[in-house]
Amino acid sequence: MQMEDFYESNLLAKWLRIILSPLMALYCILVNLFFGFKHYQTKRKGVPPISNDLLFISATDAVEKLAKRELRSLDLVNAYIDRIEEVNKTIVAAVNVDYEAARDQARQCDKFLDQIADNDEQLVKLLKEKPLYGVPITIKECIKIKGFKCTAGIKCRKDSVSEVNATVVERVLQAGAIIIASTNVPEMCARLESINNVYGQTRNPYDYARTAGGSSGGEGSLIGAGGSLFGIGSDFAGSIRLPSFFNGIFGLKPTGGVVPLDGHIPKISTIRQQMLCIGPMSRYAKDLSLLLHVIADPEHTGKMNLTSTVDLTQIKVFYMEKLVTPLCEDVHDVSLKSVHKVIKNLATSFDVAAHRLDLPLAHFAWEMFYACADLGTRPFLSEYMVDCKGDVNLYNELLKAPFGKSDHSTAIILLGILEKQSVLRKKDQSTLSLYRDRLKRELSELLSKNGVLIFPSFPCPIPFHGQMTLKSLNAAYACLWNVLGLPVVQCPLGLDFDGLPTGVQIIGAPYNERLIVEVAKHLEQRFGGWAAPK
Ligand SMILES: *[C@@H]1O[C@H](CO)[C@@H](O)[C@H](O)[C@H]1NC(C)=O
Ligand SMILES: *[C@@H]1O[C@H](CO)[C@@H](O)[C@H](O)[C@H]1NC(C)=O
Ligand SMILES: *[C@@H]1O[C@H](CO)[C@@H](O)[C@H](O)[C@H]1NC(C)=O
Repeated sequence: MQMEDFYESNLLAKWLRIILSPLMALYCILVNLFFGFKHYQTKRKGVPPISNDLLFISATDAVEKLAKRELRSLDLVNAYIDRIEEVNKTIVAAVNVDYEAARDQARQCDKFLDQIADNDEQLVKLLKEKPLYGVPITIKECIKIKGFKCTAGIKCRKDSVSEVNATVVERVLQAGAIIIASTNVPEMCARLESINNVYGQTRNPYDYARTAGGSSGGEGSLIGAGGSLFGIGSDFAGSIRLPSFFNGIFGLKPTGGVVPLDGHIPKISTIRQQMLCIGPMSRYAKDLSLLLHVIADPEHTGKMNLTSTVDLTQIKVFYMEKLVTPLCEDVHDVSLKSVHKVIKNLATSFDVAAHRLDLPLAHFAWEMFYACADLGTRPFLSEYMVDCKGDVNLYNELLKAPFGKSDHSTAIILLGILEKQSVLRKKDQSTLSLYRDRLKRELSELLSKNGVLIFPSFPCPIPFHGQMTLKSLNAAYACLWNVLGLPVVQCPLGLDFDGLPTGVQIIGAPYNERLIVEVAKHLEQRFGGWAAPK
């Protein structure tokens, strides 16, 4: 049975799709015209250039330099603290900090390294046990860090301080990293723009008028601005990859289930757990595997072979240009250009042909997402909105929101209302899950050990504040890979003529993170990867 058959048996959905196509096209034209007009006169303005050279050292290199005592942990930590102080006023990305604790920890690292400086054996042992020794890191605010606030942008959690560390936090601390800040998110992490009634709105470091994305928007913005070396985000529907794209950095959504999810707010129920992933975000491609190796479950790090070498000459390259669905905007030239420039480079570099794919089931990304995320079942968004300690009356809040009298943002309230208008029957839901399984199986077999799929990050240029929310459905380009549970690297490709970041997604078979990170490293050398804001 094909997707077409599904629509034959579900005529309402079929007609909706047909009617929706021209309406969506018109809608996108109007939205783009409005924002184009609104920002017609605005000159692009972003964070000041980075003046401290210490901010250009990758985490991987920093660990090595620290061990050789060519670099002091305290100097590195101070450099990042200074940069946060310089940029946070405008980008509003670092929302909780503990500078003194970070400096203390850095001093201890320096002292210990001085002590064992002449003992190679001890040094090797230290770096084996603590591969992040002495480097500063930041964490998305919705992941619990003992002693830090963890609100997930939910107003009624505004004073809740964590009493425990999430497992991923415990692991980076065990590995010797120094947490300097936690970073902003949208309310409940349920939007693709990082704005909430607890901390405010995060901005894009390359252009304040544009969104930093969400939900790991604070992380993306701070790393892109050079205010953090690397960090940890989470991804349910593109929440690591979209902010990584918009802020010009690398982001890795690992294979589903590889990284433990405890200590994440909101807590996700079982069925959705296969789609939510915690993963690394960084300015340098090689730091992705360094950090993933630390936070992943040991049984999976074995399976992923992160530390073994990859032979790119054996690579097979596939690509897809767009999703054909009335729910998304048609793909723009900028996005196509990025895909073409990457496949052309890979084809010539490794003397292979790039194969264009058409995966008919992929075009139904949102339908599959809706079914697999089991939306419309409890806990509802309206319960998450009060930390699952009750249920919000959404219509009441909708009336209050325009007057600033609600604790919740209008977009979230509307999303909550929409969620309860379930359109899928149980039967449809299981059919769609079967399609998901089939697509996953087919793609995994096709990509297998050496294959990568190059795919647009997003169908249009980086949206302005507000424009992103109006175009949320474009996130189908990202959420398809949550549905399928495949690993994806968001790979930056330097800046375009307007000085804004560009990039593509690199997708691999399950547990093949090693290969997609290696391809990202190759593209970073060729196209420059993260480019400092100027
Ligand atoms: C960054 O700005 C936000 C919003 O003004 C604020 O809540 C936060 O405390 C600031 N962070 C730092 C490190 O000053
Ligand atoms: C949790 O994190 C804090 C730093 O935020 C650290 O001091 C502590 O050792 C960690 N582990 C435990 C078990 O508290
Ligand atoms: C990892 O290495 C093992 C042993 O060399 C191999 O069996 C396995 O297929 C490798 N996994 C991947 C994803 O390449």
